[in-house]
Amino acid sequence: MKKIIPAILTDDVNDLKDKLGKVHGLTDWVQIDIMDGRFVNNTSVELKDLAQISTDFNFEAHLMVLETEKYLQSAQETNIKRVIFHVEAADNVDGIIEKIRTYGFEIGIALNPETDLENVLPYKDVVDVILFLGVKPGFGGQDFMPSVIDKIKQLREIDSNILIEVDGGVKLDNISVLNSVGANYFVIGTGLFSAPDIKERFNQLQQKLT
Ligand code: DX5
Repeated sequence: MKKIIPAILTDDVNDLKDKLGKVHGLTDWVQIDIMDGRFVNNTSVELKDLAQISTDFNFEAHLMVLETEKYLQSAQETNIKRVIFHVEAADNVDGIIEKIRTYGFEIGIALNPETDLENVLPYKDVVDVILFLGVKPGFGGQDFMPSVIDKIKQLREIDSNILIEVDGGVKLDNISVLNSVGANYFVIGTGLFSAPDIKERFNQLQQKLT
């Protein structure tokens, strides 16, 4: 299974709507970055803003926040299908996984570039996807950190089935190597939305996965 997931990192609801319009018809999944200004040094639109937008996208919320549980109720009031939380923000990872499960969401666990793979391995059989940050979380447009390639490769060698997502710094010039080491979902913000022709760029990225 290979999928490109456009990422929208913004604090402006009009920008959110504009970007959703630009990828409408290209994809069925979109990632919304939710930031609390504490786990990362940036803030974003809120999940309640998303609830005001009628759309047929499947959304995943990338929660770059300290208190994951506080966002689950508002996630439920939108059409969020997958909640991705950071292992670095969780005191009780099992407890958070359980809470997200009771809400009925798909569960993703994210790790930052400097976080060892060992921190998420105990949960790989109880989450739906493991998300590797390719950049320091909180801002788009950064360069992908090559050390993350090896982490993805290591996980794929350990588990041939787990769904692997990579997010941050993914572009035309590195999506092929990320695909070759076993990633399934490619979350792309700047590498897609900075293109003059987004539809053409989406197809170019898709081509790299065939
Ligand atoms: C990084 C976020 C990414 C970001 C996309 O803090 O988690 O989703 O919006 O990154 P780029 O723009 O590098 O694709």
